[in-house]
Amino acid sequence: MLDDIFTTLKQNYNFRVLSHLKHDNCFVYKEGKKLLNLASNDYLALSYDKNLIEEFLDNLKEKYKYFSSSSSRSLSGNFEIYEEFEEYLKMQFQGFEVLHFNSGYHLNLSCIAALASVPKTLFLADKFIHASMVDGLLLGKAHFFRFKHKDIKALENLIQIHYDKYDNIIILSEALFSMDGDFSDLKALCALKQRYKKIKLYIDEAHSVGCFNDNGLGLVKHLGFDKEIDFLVFTFGKAVASMGACIITHKEFKDFFINKARAFIYSTALAPINVAFTLFIFKKMKEFKEKRENLHNLAFLFKEKFAQKKYEILGDAYIISLVLGDNLKALNIAQILENQGFFAPAIKEPTVPKNTARIRFSLHAGLRLDDIERIINIL
Ligand SMILES: Cc1ncc(COP(=O)(O)O)c(C=O)c1O
Repeated sequence: MLDDIFTTLKQNYNFRVLSHLKHDNCFVYKEGKKLLNLASNDYLALSYDKNLIEEFLDNLKEKYKYFSSSSSRSLSGNFEIYEEFEEYLKMQFQGFEVLHFNSGYHLNLSCIAALASVPKTLFLADKFIHASMVDGLLLGKAHFFRFKHKDIKALENLIQIHYDKYDNIIILSEALFSMDGDFSDLKALCALKQRYKKIKLYIDEAHSVGCFNDNGLGLVKHLGFDKEIDFLVFTFGKAVASMGACIITHKEFKDFFINKARAFIYSTALAPINVAFTLFIFKKMKEFKEKRENLHNLAFLFKEKFAQKKYEILGDAYIISLVLGDNLKALNIAQILENQGFFAPAIKEPTVPKNTARIRFSLHAGLRLDDIERIINIL
C-alpha cells in the first residue's frame, strides 16, 4: 500500500530513518562512534548540566513530585505549579497573562486554529514560519496568505489589499527563524501595527527564549517590543532544557484559549515535575549570562571563519545554515562531517524549501573554539 510513497521518498534521497543514538553530554554515539552533537537545540548547554539537575532534585518540594498530572487542566490536572509558573512569568510581562501548554506544537496548532474561528480574521504569514503554525492555519481552515520571507513591502501590500474585508489581521512570524537562523524585522512589524489598527502580532520565540535578555526572556523583550506583541510564544524544549511552552497574551485571549484551544482542553497536562523544572530554570536565567555571551561569541567566530573561506552561509546568530541545494549533496557533506566526529545531519524538504537542502549547525554554549576550527577545516 505504501510502496510507491516509500519509493518516491527514497528516489529523492528523502526517506527518513531514526538514528540509534546514545547520549553523553554534548556528544552522541552513533554505531559506536563518538560525535559532537550539532543538531540539538540545547543552546545554553543546560540539558546535561548535572549540577543543575542535582540542585533541582535536592530542592524539589513534595508537592511537585508527580510524573503525571493524570488529567487535563480543564478538569483535575490544574496542579498549583502551573499557576506558580504563569504568575512568575506574568510578573516579567506587565499587563499580560500567561498560559502554559504541553508543547510548542500543541500551542501553535491549537491557538492559531482557535483564532481562525473568530469571524473576519485574516492571517498573514511569513513564508518560513514553523510547520506547527502552518498546521494551525490548515486545521482551523483559516483565511490566510503567505508573504515572501521578511518582505515587509509584500506584507504591507497584502494588508492594503485585504484591510477593508477583515476585522482582525494577525501577522505570524518567528523572532529568530529556525531554519535560516535570521532575525525577524520586529521593528518594521511593530511599525505596521502602529499604522494599521486591525493588526495583531503573533511572534514565536522558540529559538530565542533563554538566549537573549538578562533574564533570558527572549529577543522581543531584549529589544523592548514586548508591549507591542499580542501573542508571544515561548517553548521550553530548546534553550530552557525542559519541555512545554507558553503563550503570553492579553487576558481575554487567555480566557479564549482556555475555552477554545483544543490541544489545551483535550490533552493530559504536562507532568508537574516538568513544569517545576521549567520554573526552576527561569528563576536561574540571570546566572546563565556567561553562557549566553559564550554562545554569541562562538557564533560570531564561526561565521567569521566561514566568511574567510568564502562560504555562503545563513544565520544572524547561533543557528547557522550551509545551504547546499540538492539532498544528495547535503547528505554527502553530513557523512563527511560524521566521519570526522560531528553529528550535523542534512536538513531537507519539507522542513526547508525544495533544493535548499542544508547542513544546519546549532551551536551551543558548551562548544570550544577548537571544535569550531576543526569543523571549518573539514569543509
Ligand atoms: C519555531 C518553532 N515553533 C514551535 C516549535 C514546536 O515546539 P515544541 O518542540 O515544543 O513542540 C518548534 C520546534 O521545533 C519551532 O522550531
